[in-house]
Amino acid sequence: MYRSHSCGELQAKDINKEVILAGWVQKSRDKGFMIWVDLRDRYGITQLIFDEERTPAAVVEKAKTLGREFVIQVKGLVIERESKNPNIPTGDIEILVKELTILNEAIVPPFTIEDNTDGGEDIRMKYRYLDIRRNPVKNSLMFRHQVAMHVRNYLSHEGFIEVETPYLIKSTPEGARDFVVPSRMNEGQFYALPQSPQTFKQLLMVGGMDKYFQIVKCFRDEDLRADRQPEFTQIDCEMAFVEQEDILNIFEGLTRHLLQEIKGITIGDFPRMTYDEAMRTYGNDKPDIRFEMKFGELNEIAQHKDFKVFNDAELVVGIAVPGGASYTRKEIDKLVDWVKRPQVGALGMVYVKCNEDGSYKSSVDKFYDQDDLAKWASTTGAKAGDLICILSGQTHKVRAQLSALRMELAERLGLRNPEEFAPLWVVDFPLLEWDEETERYHAMHHPFTSPKPEDISLLESKPGDVRANAYDLVLNGNEIGGGSIRIHDKETQALMFDYLGFTPEEAKEQFGFLMDAFQYGAPPHGGLAFGFDRLVAILGGQETIRDYIAFPKNNSGRDVMIDAPANIDKDQLKELNIKLDLQ
Ligand code: AMO
Repeated sequence: MYRSHSCGELQAKDINKEVILAGWVQKSRDKGFMIWVDLRDRYGITQLIFDEERTPAAVVEKAKTLGREFVIQVKGLVIERESKNPNIPTGDIEILVKELTILNEAIVPPFTIEDNTDGGEDIRMKYRYLDIRRNPVKNSLMFRHQVAMHVRNYLSHEGFIEVETPYLIKSTPEGARDFVVPSRMNEGQFYALPQSPQTFKQLLMVGGMDKYFQIVKCFRDEDLRADRQPEFTQIDCEMAFVEQEDILNIFEGLTRHLLQEIKGITIGDFPRMTYDEAMRTYGNDKPDIRFEMKFGELNEIAQHKDFKVFNDAELVVGIAVPGGASYTRKEIDKLVDWVKRPQVGALGMVYVKCNEDGSYKSSVDKFYDQDDLAKWASTTGAKAGDLICILSGQTHKVRAQLSALRMELAERLGLRNPEEFAPLWVVDFPLLEWDEETERYHAMHHPFTSPKPEDISLLESKPGDVRANAYDLVLNGNEIGGGSIRIHDKETQALMFDYLGFTPEEAKEQFGFLMDAFQYGAPPHGGLAFGFDRLVAILGGQETIRDYIAFPKNNSGRDVMIDAPANIDKDQLKELNIKLDLQ
């Protein structure tokens, strides 16, 4: 037996018990006649004491050789501590050691394995197995497990069945690039790793599974950010014989259940907002509604004077920053510089200070009088003491810029409290999205999404206005889930492929299996997928998903611990019939 107890459980009630513990040496303090060692395992830390008077001399000698991270086993007696530590559950006791076995020695770790480590991100990634020994990382992984258990319980209870789908498949068009895998047995041919199990879950509905879910890895070769990894996990779900309302209810229930069970927070009905409204009010399809600062469109009340910048703009729009009237000239200049950074891309910013005495002072006083500015204040909801920040230009650009400013200011003002949760359904997404580069419409969600029946007639005349039965779940400004009601008949699906620029041959080659399946009695169906890493991170109060993934990739998509991706040897290439021409 390696251990009778863990390092996290012994307390005053266990005094006088003979116990065996095993774990890692967190640190040791040698006072000459007495040695204390903090022994750590996943469950906690227990203090060991080697005492010249009470511990056999040979054991004390051996204890003197212990280094950090040695793996040891001790046998001893639980005794009361002289100086208690109220900060840890085992703080009342210590183990008077009688026997010590060194199970494995350890070389000095490259960073201290403490909550506050001296190791930077790069070194911790390279030695991720050491990082995992630290409480912050270990606790994040345990938290992830807890969320997964609640998800599985909830969905199983609702009648969902977890079904695994293959990883070696053909491309699924979720909008990113595929990772591909060469096939040795099928020369010159490649599998694609799934960007999601989208087509398989639809086939499971044709197969009559009715309610499917899977906590599943997905793979997307796209540019990485704090909330994106090339391989990530979805809670992927699909249901048959449902309408949008059924799906929203089930997954609102799941989210509410998680908030209740994990955070102890009770939330009522989730608000819903159309995509159009989200864009107009927050400039963004995933608005953080924990705070106000709603957009006020000013075209009508700002385009009647000689201010050319505004007159030429497609959109003039502002937000009221609470308490911003007290910003100094220098602070405002810094804000202007912030919106002009290439990452944001605004050409400039107009501002209005709403003074406490009810007067206004703006950067465009030359063009606008107090009455004009009062109207701007009322449209943006600015009160005395606020600052109105106004951007103008092309609608989609200005919205993105002002939205970035809104989030930045909210961050600076401490309005993004990670312990507050504000979920929101964004519904009625456009079916199609214009792509400037290819000068074509693309499916905004994916090509299996059904248009709203009442909008189908607009497909010819105004494709950009056709709305889809598609929805996203947004939590604290993050898109944590998205889904849609699907097309379930061959004709509509063929029509959609046609609109998206697939020739009938291409559609048949790529998605013939799905169109075929639709001929054998496909039920009406729909579903959604949550980004599991994102959900866990946000519930944990963070927005960086890397912290919740055991072995994440860095921003260049590399695993620096195992050093992947890597070259493969010539024989392997030959076997796969791949000739590399790296000129
Ligand atoms: P979608 O592409 O919106 O939908 O993805 C669903 C959710 O997955 C998360 N997500 C990511 N998380 C981490 N890293 C990434 N690279 C990444 N990409 C996406 C997001 C997103 O909301 N098949 C559809 C779902 C459906 O229609 O049922 C799909 O994959 O949180």
